[in-house]
Amino acid sequence: MEGVLQQIEAYRSEINAFPVTNAAQLEEYRIKFLGTKGVVKSLFGEMRNVPADQKKEFGLVLNDFKQFAEAKYETAKETATHSQTSAANDMDLSLPGDPVQIGSRHPITLVRNRIIDIFHRLGFAVADGPEIEDDWHNFTALNLPENHPARDMQDTFYIHQNPDWLLRTHTSNVQTREMEKGNLPIRIICPGRVYRNETISARAHCFFHQVEGLYIDTDVSFADLKQTLYFFVQEMFGKDTQVRFRPSYFPFTEPSAEMDVTCTICGGSGCSLCKHTGWVEILGCGMVHPSVLENCGIDSNQYTGFAFGMGVERITQVKYNVNDLRLYSQNDIRFLKQFSSAV
Ligand code: PHE
Repeated sequence: MEGVLQQIEAYRSEINAFPVTNAAQLEEYRIKFLGTKGVVKSLFGEMRNVPADQKKEFGLVLNDFKQFAEAKYETAKETATHSQTSAANDMDLSLPGDPVQIGSRHPITLVRNRIIDIFHRLGFAVADGPEIEDDWHNFTALNLPENHPARDMQDTFYIHQNPDWLLRTHTSNVQTREMEKGNLPIRIICPGRVYRNETISARAHCFFHQVEGLYIDTDVSFADLKQTLYFFVQEMFGKDTQVRFRPSYFPFTEPSAEMDVTCTICGGSGCSLCKHTGWVEILGCGMVHPSVLENCGIDSNQYTGFAFGMGVERITQVKYNVNDLRLYSQNDIRFLKQFSSAV
């Protein structure tokens, strides 16, 4: 039996040294040590030649060896099959990944964010409000009582269920709500979607986006309004851009003005965007009417303020020469992707 024990020890060393890093070697190992004609089987065959009083001891040694041989097989199986999968995929982890199609922000979003950013630098906070509004906050509080002819300037969608409800025609409703809160001074801009009952064409749509602004404090003057908007124009369209104010009428401001900028497309020499005048209108503005302040519970003897309102589509048109309003809502990728690196 001494000889067999020595042989088992030799097999142990052989097993330890046996390379099993791939499926072929693993199979070779299995056949050699665990197969029907393998080492383990033949050693069990030796049992016959062992004297009866040593059979028990030999049996223990054999079982121990068998477990040892099997354990190596099991462990090696794990590693060998895994390396086989990665070998089969031929995976090169250093290769660049599949390209991911990244969308781009909508031009209206880009320009709106830019407007917000510019006014943010002047200390204006963003305020938000409902798109379905009541008559008071959209019209009456803003000096536009029922039957006021100026309501015709904003053709309105009313809501069936309640004659007092409508889709806001401007984001001035947010200004009304902020004024009613009474936390003075107020310095806000109100970006958002607004609705007007217009036939859809290149120059009109049933909805568009606005950014309106409101600044109320003691001693706010028209000079503050002009300087604020001049800063905005220079940041948005470039330092060479000039502005001009033309007297206008809005029920909620007095005096009121419309502001033009030198045409960004032709630089003032005349083109189709500026209708050969060299100027394009971009917003309405004025000093908040005292009645509006009073309607919202603000003492008009103590406080003054200015307000302005612009269409984001219009600013985008002037900045990028987009000549058809419908392009903004048609979702044509050929149009949209031109703005991926804009602003
Ligand atoms: N609310 C006006 C509109 O939508 C714009 C505006 C705002 C004009 C503030 C003057 C002052 O037409």
